[in-house]
Amino acid sequence: MAWHALVDVSRNSALPLTAQIESTLRNEISAGALHPGTRLPSSRQLAEDLGVSRSVVVEAYGRLIAEGYLEAVRGSGTRVAPHMAAPPAPPGLPTLLDDGLVPPARWDLRGGTAGLTGFPHREWLASYQRALSGAGPHDLDYPPLSGAAALREELAQYLGRARGVLTTPGQIMVMSGFAQALGLLCSVLSADGIDRIAMEDPCHHRQRQFLQEVGQRPVPVPVDAEGIDVDALSRTGARAVLVTPAHQFPTGATLTAQRREALVRWARDTDAWVIEDDYDGDLWLERGARPPALQRLAPEHVVYGGTASKSLAPGLRFGWLAVPARLLAPLERMRSHRDLGSDIVTQLAFAEFLRSGHFDRHLRRRRARYRVRREALTQSVRRHLPGARIAGAAAGLHAYLSLPPGTDEAALVERALRRSVLVRGGRRYHRRPELAAPALVLGYAAVPRTGIAEAVEALGAAYAERGEGAGPAPARKFSNSAAPPSVMMLSG
Ligand SMILES: Cc1ncc(COP(=O)(O)O)c(C=O)c1O
Repeated sequence: MAWHALVDVSRNSALPLTAQIESTLRNEISAGALHPGTRLPSSRQLAEDLGVSRSVVVEAYGRLIAEGYLEAVRGSGTRVAPHMAAPPAPPGLPTLLDDGLVPPARWDLRGGTAGLTGFPHREWLASYQRALSGAGPHDLDYPPLSGAAALREELAQYLGRARGVLTTPGQIMVMSGFAQALGLLCSVLSADGIDRIAMEDPCHHRQRQFLQEVGQRPVPVPVDAEGIDVDALSRTGARAVLVTPAHQFPTGATLTAQRREALVRWARDTDAWVIEDDYDGDLWLERGARPPALQRLAPEHVVYGGTASKSLAPGLRFGWLAVPARLLAPLERMRSHRDLGSDIVTQLAFAEFLRSGHFDRHLRRRRARYRVRREALTQSVRRHLPGARIAGAAAGLHAYLSLPPGTDEAALVERALRRSVLVRGGRRYHRRPELAAPALVLGYAAVPRTGIAEAVEALGAAYAERGEGAGPAPARKFSNSAAPPSVMMLSG
């Protein structure tokens, strides 16, 4: 194949060969098909490609260099000149979880991102290498739609022992993250006549938006310190609900045993689906036993979803579902219209990562690191933000900081930024932010322990400024022992 699809010469043309090469290259550069910096083949190579003498190409290159289209770089041949700038890339659409433009700040306490510096490069590389070297030609064919058999077996075992999920390898579906799983589930439910999905309020605001964009109507259901309000859920008439039972996003509440029972009773009585988003279930940081997956109480009604985004890295785009038997065929059918399965090499590598115990060891290290950071956060909050209180269970990558009533959340976020601390307010996660109690969501996974102490001290200084013209001051100061009574807004 020629170096460039369009660079060719015709001996029947009235144009000399040099001019033909020259004008095609000029046109392709101007059209943006040949990008700035693109390396051109050597004159010898291109001459051979086109069946012309080398001097023809040398002359064409020479003229384009003189005109400024190309440049000769000593030791690395000829390239399209860098100033032939390509049109700017269109702005990327925000993904499910990002914020768009973010101002620079010394401390980034936004939740959501794993401490990417803690990625187990060596172990992942070893698993990848083993997976690739063990893969025969057949393994590199289109993967089974629901995932490689080896991985589904490892995942079923892992989920059974680590999260108490009652499933079989045949019910595991490997996905490109929970986002893909949720989109697929929404479509399957729509096809079954379900066009309203109940969601926790607060919840991840982008998940709410995502549901709307895929044609579902999100129905908000209030959350309190025990998790989702199941009585309120049953009054909605919805036949599906998306929940985060282990560690409610963002409040951190763990669904209590009574609520769990009530939720699965609701699902059985109304023949409804529960979608369990166990986004950070393997990062339980409390000393006591971690809550098992809700799925085990009603495997026939609960679709369990997990992800590697918090435990490993979101960039892997890797997640999984444990699917009730009845939903397997519809999900596979729907998926077959969308894609042809997930990247097989990553799947085989992850199977190896699980089999070799690397994942368990990695999680132990990560939990230990996050525990230290979370402790630093808790202590610094106590010291520097009197009256504020961390709510919910110690798990995952973020903490929900409840602020005294009357605190101007938006003003605090702004003042923190002026002190180079980037934080998110809690209200953005509520369907009706104006009714929500003030709060901050503090991510501690991406900042080292000492940084957390410094960042919270700066945040505390911004907090102490309240009432100095930046927003209404709280009616009174709370001491740590007299924290505000209600942690979360019950919004309708
Ligand atoms: C509430 C919640 N669910 C799920 C996810 C994971 O989504 P994904 O697996 O698509 O990265 C996240 C990621 O940050 C999240 O915050």
